[in-house]
Amino acid sequence: MAANFSACLVPVAVLALFYLVIFPNDLSQLKSALAPCDAASKSVAAAAAADDDVDFRMFFGILNRPDFYKRRALLRMGRRYAVLVALEIITHGDILVLNCTENMNDGKTYDYFSALPRLFPAGAEPRYDFAGKIDDDTYYRLGALADTLRRKPRRDMYHGFLNPCHIDPAWQYMSGMGYIVSWDVAEWIAASPELRGREIGYEDDVFGRWLRGAGKGKNRFGEEPRMYDYLDREMYGADVNCFRHELIADTVAVHKLKDRLKWARTLRFFNATDGLKPSKMYHVDLTPRI
Ligand SMILES: *[C@@H]1O[C@H](CO)[C@@H](O)[C@H](O)[C@H]1NC(C)=O
Ligand SMILES: *[C@@H]1O[C@H](CO)[C@@H](O)[C@H](O)[C@H]1NC(C)=O
Repeated sequence: MAANFSACLVPVAVLALFYLVIFPNDLSQLKSALAPCDAASKSVAAAAAADDDVDFRMFFGILNRPDFYKRRALLRMGRRYAVLVALEIITHGDILVLNCTENMNDGKTYDYFSALPRLFPAGAEPRYDFAGKIDDDTYYRLGALADTLRRKPRRDMYHGFLNPCHIDPAWQYMSGMGYIVSWDVAEWIAASPELRGREIGYEDDVFGRWLRGAGKGKNRFGEEPRMYDYLDREMYGADVNCFRHELIADTVAVHKLKDRLKWARTLRFFNATDGLKPSKMYHVDLTPRI
């Protein structure tokens, strides 16, 4: 069950990009598509406005600690993962379920990229220019990403963080933190079933080898130092190097956000909560606690 669930999470992040491409000038639509509370509070407000002759209304308060996120999720959504995923689909409409079992190195990347051209064939709407695959511990700043992609070729393109950094470019591939290819590359993958199972190894390295072997993705764009692994001074034994440094203003993506404190610090650094309006319904102190 857990396996199927995490297989679903990969595309969640990617669909965020689809929204970005559809609404390049309106990132607020993306925000509302991804913000559960926002969506829920809207539907509550709509229901309240719609009916005046109800028997009674109750404010239902379940007391719960801030760090019990999973329990809140369970209370909201039920017990079984299939049911949870179905409810998430109903709530957010941004999940693509791949027909494969969760695996680290065996064909998940193939299944994902080859599914896209079937879902959105040439000539059908919407038409996408790029397809991305993103780790669930990566925070992309969508405005910065849009600015950099806008000027990139729409064909034979491969964008991300070149890994391992500072070696012979012939051996580099885009790090699994997040990479984006032009749509023709996804179409080529879908039309090349022989790629599946051809090479064994770490999936993002394998992806790079597919492209290299076929002379694809020649327009390569590495975003060092604007894509990097998270670092803060409290991380024991972690140092600045070519793929890891402290947060910088001009960031495209931060990776290795492995716990909620790292997410909180990152989102705060990038002023992601600026849109929070004052309300008598809450008082939120946004200083991340250690
Ligand atoms: C999912 O994959 C399995 C095994 O490859 C196949 O038997 C099944 O028909 C597929 N289901 C769908 C809905 O495509
Ligand atoms: C966040 O907002 C503050 C105050 O407006 C500003 O000084 C800072 O540059 C912003 N940070 C980023 C990363 O844009």
